[in-house]
Amino acid sequence: MSGVEVAVEGLTKSFGTQNIWRDVSLTLPRGEVSVLLGPSGTGKSVFLKSLIGLLRPETGSIVIDGVDILQCSSKQLYEIRKLFGVLFQDGALFGSMDLFDNTAFPLREHTRKSESEIREIVMEKMELVGLSGAETKLPGEISGGMRKRAGLARALVLDPQIILVDEPDSGLDPVRTTYISQLLMDINAQIDATILIVSHNINLARTVPDNIGMLFRRELVMFGPREVLLTSDEPVVKQFLNGTMIGPIGMSEEKDEAQMAHERALVAAGHHAGGVEDIEGVIPQMRPTPGMPIRQGEIRRQDRVRRILPSLPATAQNAILESMADSEYLEELSEGLRPESPSL
Ligand SMILES: Nc1ncnc2c1ncn2[C@@H]1O[C@H](COP(=O)(O)OP(=O)(O)OP(=O)(O)O)[C@@H](O)[C@H]1O
Ligand SMILES: [Mg+2]
Repeated sequence: MSGVEVAVEGLTKSFGTQNIWRDVSLTLPRGEVSVLLGPSGTGKSVFLKSLIGLLRPETGSIVIDGVDILQCSSKQLYEIRKLFGVLFQDGALFGSMDLFDNTAFPLREHTRKSESEIREIVMEKMELVGLSGAETKLPGEISGGMRKRAGLARALVLDPQIILVDEPDSGLDPVRTTYISQLLMDINAQIDATILIVSHNINLARTVPDNIGMLFRRELVMFGPREVLLTSDEPVVKQFLNGTMIGPIGMSEEKDEAQMAHERALVAAGHHAGGVEDIEGVIPQMRPTPGMPIRQGEIRRQDRVRRILPSLPATAQNAILESMADSEYLEELSEGLRPESPSL
């Protein structure tokens, strides 16, 4: 079992006269972990729902496993949906079902497995997310973090090849957020699933993904290898990653030039703009827990990034080359995996 690529081309979505985003193109590489950032209301959740065919963009294509889900039959869409495991922003648990039945739901719906097989899978996934013992609890009786983890267990029961997670960190403390991040890395290592995480969390964005994208002002501002965004001078990307008030993102999303100039003057006069403005550059990426399998996505990514390297900005190129040079881990991995080079 391994992940599949998701190729999005020229996607535009509106509700009535309200355009949410337009001409969005990006490819989630097979088995890699990507994060989609963007201020509130920029349509991240709408994008995620579009990927599984719950919402229908007006134009563009979404090709998964050779099928454009905006053109295919409903039977094909049903088959494609089985490739997905989705953790919705609100967890989307059924309030009247206990955690066991919630987690078992996709298995009962989509497979003909026996109840004893279902029990085995459910217990395994509940253990994976640290919920053993909570099977009989109702969603209303547990904390927000536990609901997130239950939603994740349910997203995993069909062994998905594509995992979409909408704000896994919302409502979680920083430590639990790190645990969830580690869990997603470990799952990626174990099943090589293609993962897209929607998040506001700067720390998660800096440490977890192979690729980062950002939605702003109805457009995908950027999408690419993590090093490209983490070293970017693009004002909106910089502002978001540093969490400061200085930049194009305002309380109601957008600011005009006059307002930005006014704010820069205030900061020049010593006003604190919030955030962590002096954090710059690329910090090491989170790894699977020791003992986990090698991330196949990371190995494929190394080749992929090497190929596109000349097309990337110089700062990103340097960051990539540095991290490759640092990465004894990857060297060891590739030595272990590649056929030996022919002796001369
Ligand atoms: N089914 C719908 N019908 C009409 N408008 C919708 C629908 N779903 C979302 N929207 C609108 O689309 C816009 C984007 O919403 P979305 O939930 O995708 O934002 P988001 O980026 O996920 O925000 P947040 O970070 O707060 O979760 C909002 O203006 C929202 O009101
Ligand atoms: Mg959302």
